[in-house]
Amino acid sequence: GGVTTIDPGYKNTGSCESAITFLDGEKGILRYRGYAIEDLAEKADFLEVAYLLIFGELPNKEQLDKFHTDIKKHSVVDDDVKKILDAFPKSAHPMGVLSSLTSALTAFNPSSVNVDSEEDMYNAIVRILGKFPVLVAWAMRKKLGLPLDYGDSSLGYVENVLKMMFKQPNEDYKINPIVVDALDKLLILHADHEQNCSTSTVRIVGSSHAGLFASLSAGISALWGPLHGGANQAVLEMLEAIKEDGGDTKKFMGKAKDKEDPFRLMGFGHRVYKNFDPRAKIIKKSADEVLEDLGVEDPILGIAKGLEQEALNDDYFVKRKLYPNVDFYSGIIYKAMGIPVEMFTVMFALGRLPGWIAQWREMRLKKEPIGRPRQVYVGENLRDFKTIDNR
Ligand code: CMC
Repeated sequence: GGVTTIDPGYKNTGSCESAITFLDGEKGILRYRGYAIEDLAEKADFLEVAYLLIFGELPNKEQLDKFHTDIKKHSVVDDDVKKILDAFPKSAHPMGVLSSLTSALTAFNPSSVNVDSEEDMYNAIVRILGKFPVLVAWAMRKKLGLPLDYGDSSLGYVENVLKMMFKQPNEDYKINPIVVDALDKLLILHADHEQNCSTSTVRIVGSSHAGLFASLSAGISALWGPLHGGANQAVLEMLEAIKEDGGDTKKFMGKAKDKEDPFRLMGFGHRVYKNFDPRAKIIKKSADEVLEDLGVEDPILGIAKGLEQEALNDDYFVKRKLYPNVDFYSGIIYKAMGIPVEMFTVMFALGRLPGWIAQWREMRLKKEPIGRPRQVYVGENLRDFKTIDNR
């Protein structure tokens, strides 16, 4: 029989049963494996949250140590991958570089493709958790023209990423605990968000039994778009543009409400949250603290707060339940940390990696069938074929 209902954007279609993330968009609730996002952001570190998402329980000390040790064993990327990176122009967007190199890893780790046992899956998972931060750091160093390097296995996962990103030649890298804590929190807040665009992409690509790295590479491409993860870059560019233009937030509010104008208030609105995004609340507070602790005074923080206040009191935004989302304040923190704006979505990908992995693993363990939506055909009926000189 034919299909009678369609649901563009899958606004009301469930694609799977999942035990990973609970989200109530009306109430503004987000939980990973039953734990409140507020508790995890405050009390856990990113690697614990990664373990929790992927395996379902918070690790004890031994489990976490083993997990970290296994990840560290795999934190070297084949030298030939550097040659691929070399071939990109410096102007290449780091998200394109990241998705290409993640896909390329398949070629250097062929055993990660056919993963039929839990053990094979585990090996593929610790491999990518080890290698991905290296690719993230390389993508940034390429942009900045810095020599590539590896991390330091004596460091924590997040400290090590920071060192790989920021270490300057002939200089010791000094760990700033404020920056480590802030990044840890940001990564936790981004770690999973149930069946969003990139996660659904990872699951659907993985459902054909393409390998984990190929599935993740597809997810990175999906995340890149400005309606999804790319919003964090777009928010910062928007705030800078408002500043350059003289700081008139009302003018930009007007543009966002004008249906003839394609401009949208980036960092506002969410498919599922029709109330405050609980992640945005945590990030807003963190942005205040980090800027103060680092002694950074950035006028765009004031512009962001002004826009938020206006939107919260504006009929257009109130009626449509458009609140600031996770990305409205994250870019301000990344900027204060010295991360270039084109790297913001890469940082989102680093945070989302455990969620993508957890969702892929759940899908494979449940032996879900290949993803294959249907359609309603609205094209021509059968037509007579005309040869080219008769058209
Ligand atoms: N500025 C102005 N108007 C907006 C905005 C916005 N940011 N977002 C939605 N609207 C309006 C939209 O024009 C529509 O109005 P009307 O009913 O008059 O046609 C109404 O609100 C509903 O919007 P929609 O586009 O149908 O909603 P959606 O669920 O398809 O889109 C969204 C959700 C997040 C793509 C959208 O709100 C948006 O484009 N926001 C800006 C980009 C952004 O910040 N994205 C990051 C999302 S959070 C990070 C992540 O997890 O990806």
